[in-house]
Amino acid sequence: MSTAEIQDYLKTATGVAKEAGEVVREAFYKEKSLQTKSNYADLVTETDQAVEKQIINSLKEKYPTHKFIGEESVADGHKTEWTDDPTWIIDPIDGTTNFVHQIPHTCVCIGLSIKKQMVVGVVYAPILNEMYTGAKGLGAFCNGERISTSQQNDMKQAIIYLEGGSSREPDVLRRKCNIYHKVVETTRGTRTLGSAAMNMVNVAKGSGDAYVEYGLHIWDFAASGVILLEAGGAMIDPAGGPVDFLSRRVLCASSQSLADQLSTTIPEHIEMERD
Ligand code: IPD
Repeated sequence: MSTAEIQDYLKTATGVAKEAGEVVREAFYKEKSLQTKSNYADLVTETDQAVEKQIINSLKEKYPTHKFIGEESVADGHKTEWTDDPTWIIDPIDGTTNFVHQIPHTCVCIGLSIKKQMVVGVVYAPILNEMYTGAKGLGAFCNGERISTSQQNDMKQAIIYLEGGSSREPDVLRRKCNIYHKVVETTRGTRTLGSAAMNMVNVAKGSGDAYVEYGLHIWDFAASGVILLEAGGAMIDPAGGPVDFLSRRVLCASSQSLADQLSTTIPEHIEMERD
């Protein structure tokens, strides 16, 4: 794949994310029509559904043979089928709960994989007016300015993003509380932004140093993963080794060394049902 092709994909994804973000911004302070998915903490609004349709239609017009994995299409019964074909991986609103509660950390995520390698990632936070972009070999940017991770290597000086997530399964919650305890004990502090992608782009730009979550989905971290890696960060499976995008867990950090230290600090890893 040529650099020109990658640049073309990135330009298209950025334009489509910008248009989608306008719809999110327009709806942000208005009353929302809300439904729950797997449980009372797993939300979807009519804006999530409308924005996903808009993104898929725009991309299909330009790339009719490409495949799609979208959060709300999967919730509607489509299977997550990730193949070697060019595949757009979409979260129309990451941080839906933030969107519902008018907390500004909410973003549109569009990633492109080719042969199961992430090549392009766009994360647009319309309320914060932050457009993050990354493409394989071409660097990571926020609003056109190059970004890079903190390169922090010392756990005692690190800020770690953690999420409660939407699972209310007692065993998952017990393990997450143990992880939370250990991470607070061994680091400078923890933060929660309520959006996997926002946590990851913040690590990418050096606002915080690492992030670990169990229970998220491929659309929550595919696009931001490209940005994080291109910013000089590391992304692994929380138990160590390469990240598995369908395993519903990820650990990313400002540096490989910090990623490895956080991985070994975690007292017990959580197995989630695969996407
Ligand atoms: C959720 C957010 C949240 C994370 C969950 C995700 P959604 O995505 O990223 O921070 O903890 O695991 O499912 O539902 O807002 O797109």
